[in-house]
Amino acid sequence: MKAVVCKAFGEIDDLVIEDVEARAPGPNEVRIKVRAAGVNFPDILIVQGKYQVTPPLPFTPGPESAGDVIAVGDNVKDIAVGDRVMATHPWGGYAEEVNAPAATVNKLHDSIDYATAAAMQITYGTTYHALFDRGQLQAGETLLVTGASGGVGLSAVEVGKAAGARVIAAASNDEKLEVAKQYGADELINYSTENLRDRMKELTGGAGADVIYDPVGGDVFDDAVRCTAWGGRFLIIGFASGRIPAFKINYALVKSFSLVGVFWGSFAARNPQQNRANFETLMQWVDAGKIKPLVSQTYDLDHAVDAMRAIADRKATGKLVITPN
Ligand SMILES: NC(=O)c1ccc[n+]([C@@H]2O[C@H](COP(=O)([O-])OP(=O)(O)OC[C@H]3O[C@@H](n4cnc5c(N)ncnc54)[C@H](OP(=O)(O)O)[C@@H]3O)[C@@H](O)[C@H]2O)c1
Repeated sequence: MKAVVCKAFGEIDDLVIEDVEARAPGPNEVRIKVRAAGVNFPDILIVQGKYQVTPPLPFTPGPESAGDVIAVGDNVKDIAVGDRVMATHPWGGYAEEVNAPAATVNKLHDSIDYATAAAMQITYGTTYHALFDRGQLQAGETLLVTGASGGVGLSAVEVGKAAGARVIAAASNDEKLEVAKQYGADELINYSTENLRDRMKELTGGAGADVIYDPVGGDVFDDAVRCTAWGGRFLIIGFASGRIPAFKINYALVKSFSLVGVFWGSFAARNPQQNRANFETLMQWVDAGKIKPLVSQTYDLDHAVDAMRAIADRKATGKLVITPN
């Protein structure tokens, strides 16, 4: 079968497409014919050898996929050959076939196409867990989202709005903000041309945001953390800017706010039942038209690196998806 292969940690341009041997699923594993694979920011870091997880070489990137089950290993219950599913796996998705742990496999509702399924796992899974399990977001509260047109950011705008929050979207240019507006943002802040703290004061009458969802870190974090409301929850999602920030903890004391860590992958591994319930709710929301995850572009396997480059160059909106079959 064809797969994107990383032979040495380094640049994404060094990835190659090769025929590799397909492996039968082991116990508790499911083999999937990949119809769609989601592309994520950390995929680039893994290839560069800069992520917290380093796979044994050679490996195929790709942590999430959707497709058809073509084989099941020993001990697998409730999933059968022919099922339409979505799944997560540490790597392996940029390929015609992948083995996934059965615990991460979810059957798709009929209304959900493969590209949408591949696009909604890591982003919407992270966001649902972040906003509700960790952030305790309530209807009527104000939610600030940074990097608001990116993969996780746009999902936070959409899910926050669906939950009845007032959503303020912040991003680096007006085109990106327009996408966030289409996905439900009530107010927009361009943090390349406007001062984030000043605009947040104007928009919230000085109160700040009850919940802040920050996948960017760096300078954006430095400003955003000063916009947390009394009793607020600042959700640490990621550091796409490349800098892990430090901050003075007296800010948290003065406003009695919480800095809340979010690590969806680890949550999903530790609480597969709760994660499955979260996905069931998300799929019901897709069925009902309450959310519509944005797949802005699809790429065939031969152009997988182009998708990764668009993310590295900060040009992607919503999700990019690879369609190997
Ligand atoms: N905690 C978790 O469980 C979890 C789960 C999934 C992802 N994440 C993390 O969340 C972050 C975003 O992931 P994603 O897949 O949503 O990425 P993405 O689609 O590329 O979005 C990232 C956003 O960050 C902003 N950004 C600022 N500086 C950037 C830079 N130098 N390069 C690229 N983007 C930059 C961009 O928005 P502007 O141009 O508008 O600033 C971009 O839209 C990553 O750090 C990822 O590791 C964490």
